[in-house]
Amino acid sequence: MQIQHNISLKPYNTFGIDVKALKFLDITHIEILKELLKKEKDFFIIGGGSNLLLTKDITKLVIHIAFKGIKVVDEFEDTVLVQVAAGENWHEFVLWCIENNYGGVENLSLIPGNVGTAPIQNIGAYGVEFKDTAQKVETIHIETGIERIFNKDECAFDYRNSVFKNELKGSYIITNVTFKLSKNKHILNSSYGAIQAELDKQNIKNATIKDVSDAVIAIREHKLPDPKKIGNSGSFFKNPIISKSEFKKLQEKFPDAPHYTVSENEIKVPAGWLVEQCGFKGKRFGDAGIHKNQALVLVNYANATGKEIYDLSKRIQNAVVEKFGIPIETEVNII
Ligand code: EPU
Repeated sequence: MQIQHNISLKPYNTFGIDVKALKFLDITHIEILKELLKKEKDFFIIGGGSNLLLTKDITKLVIHIAFKGIKVVDEFEDTVLVQVAAGENWHEFVLWCIENNYGGVENLSLIPGNVGTAPIQNIGAYGVEFKDTAQKVETIHIETGIERIFNKDECAFDYRNSVFKNELKGSYIITNVTFKLSKNKHILNSSYGAIQAELDKQNIKNATIKDVSDAVIAIREHKLPDPKKIGNSGSFFKNPIISKSEFKKLQEKFPDAPHYTVSENEIKVPAGWLVEQCGFKGKRFGDAGIHKNQALVLVNYANATGKEIYDLSKRIQNAVVEKFGIPIETEVNII
């Protein structure tokens, strides 16, 4: 167990914020984690670092979860169970599925981050969420070091939410996730307008899972900045859900407000639209900015500090409340 000192966390967060870990440990095997848990309980866990805004140096021990491995653990006539280690990169796992013709996660192509952090906020895009294929989540309890498997119901998945973000926050470390994927008779989800439009554009009639994945990649590459080129954390804010009566009031003033019905009395309004209406889209303040194609995404052009991005996010939240009376919550964890 080799603890390193004064390590820059820049390569470990997709925002590319240059803060330090005073103590840093790369954990490549579950056994090493179990050993650590016998003597250390107070640490900061970093996975893919894709949903994280670091505003200061981390004085606690930082542990980087780097377990690797993807394997088929069971096979049925039409489906397959695949166990994936927490440290696997999410998009590389999606590409592995496409290569092996396993369907179910193709709409989630190109989402930054790791497999082990995907359950925490139930990642989602283009009409599909993590929870649609996840079967179980394997964990280790930090306090006792005991392994526990959560079935899907126990994870309490919801829009960008799960039990790991709420009552069990900070209690468990995710080690593996098992997915149930289709081997044949794939059920494609191209209901999300932009996917069908992309397939039509390419004149694809009987789309395969690879076609859907390619379409999602094309859409995302067009709309969202590549964190390898411009630091970002995907959606910085969650889309707010408001009551029907609140939405009616909004619609009176802004008849074109885009929206999606969530339930009988709840309407989701795209935060990107709210932010754009406040005039922030494409604006740059030093090295911190708002992406030109998607106002939901804050970016670090080069050397922005976490504090600068944080201050910008506060400014945006205040402007949205002032103009629309709607608070927007951050999706990203701010440290
Ligand atoms: N819009 C604007 N201006 C903008 C951005 C969006 O007016 O700058 C409006 C448009 O009306 C557009 C609508 O918002 O039609 C919805 O935009 P989009 O389809 O891009 O989706 P989103 O609601 O902005 C969500 C997820 C994304 C996910 C997409 C596609 C959240 C917080 N974000 O964005 O997730 O990729 O749907 O399914 O739910 C992420 O979490 O990192 C992420 C990128």
